[in-house]
Amino acid sequence: MIDSKLKTWEGETVIIHFDRPSAATIIIALHSSRLGPATGGTRMKNYPDFESALEDALRLSAGMTYKFAVPGFPRGGGKAVISLPEKFSPQMRTGLLQRYGKLIHKLNGQFYTGPDIGTSPSDMDIIAETGAPYVHSRTPQAGGAGSSGPFTALGVFTGIKAACQHVFGSVTLAGRRVLVQGVGSVGQKLIEYLRSAKAEVLFSDIDEKIIRKYRDEIGLEFVPPEKLFDTECDVFSPCALGNVISKESIERLKCRIVAGGANNQLTETKDAQRLQAKKILYAPDYVVNIGGAMAITGMESMGWSHQEAEKQVVESVRNALGRIFELTETEGITTEAAARRIAEERLNSVDK
Ligand code: PHE
Repeated sequence: MIDSKLKTWEGETVIIHFDRPSAATIIIALHSSRLGPATGGTRMKNYPDFESALEDALRLSAGMTYKFAVPGFPRGGGKAVISLPEKFSPQMRTGLLQRYGKLIHKLNGQFYTGPDIGTSPSDMDIIAETGAPYVHSRTPQAGGAGSSGPFTALGVFTGIKAACQHVFGSVTLAGRRVLVQGVGSVGQKLIEYLRSAKAEVLFSDIDEKIIRKYRDEIGLEFVPPEKLFDTECDVFSPCALGNVISKESIERLKCRIVAGGANNQLTETKDAQRLQAKKILYAPDYVVNIGGAMAITGMESMGWSHQEAEKQVVESVRNALGRIFELTETEGITTEAAARRIAEERLNSVDK
């Protein structure tokens, strides 16, 4: 099982560390260092078993490689997964993060990390106590660039506009129905951008507090999770967990565009063909969600200002989608295949 997963993964190295005091398992997947040191977020959550945690780390790390390779950003792909035990006491959190930091430090620059689902800039502060200088996205108080979510949202917003231009012939979002799934650090900011562009925003979430705030206080249309795929909209924007797009969900989808911030949106590559057959334009996840990782690493290790970071994110998402939509038309391939081709060309142009 594990053996076959590693064989099909095609990455470089996987580090598996059992943190005895907390009983959490840390998996660091170093997928590629061709373009630069492997970089990727730390996802911390419960997984049903070791295999699914490993699978997540492997797939997410490959996604990071392609993410950076499309615009040729000088970073490689990696990802860390901290699989928490069923009974995890919150008092264990700080110690676990510090020990995780030590592990990162020992890797001596082979892996740089940042936040992902289940971790935040204040967690990065703790990891950096022992893991510096390989930790991105610390809080501004600790000298970091803060949350990556708003930059990811900016890239997704740019991607939605580019996709609308392609499908509807206009970038204007006024009156377009956009369904945002998941109002987390990316979804929140994305909703702000969409509302200021006068789009009609619908949202879906499972957190009662979020639902109350966005439905009752802000007045947005709430879509219950069971109606997610049956709701008519122009743009469906997955900003929560992966694997939302599948054979089953595609049969139900009533949108013209899929463009969101979540990683690994497709359950399998074939889903890209299924979307295309249904005339739904898919803006590949790793192309539009690069904003956070790009802006934060740019600001923290390349001296970019906040403004420069935003400019780089907007330009890189816009240019990449332009090339992808063009390739899709000239070559008759899916947007996913086009993105993959651009990434692979870049990776192959560097010998190692
Ligand atoms: N969660 C980010 C992503 O998936 C990872 C990241 C954030 C990496 C910030 C570096 C800095 O792209």
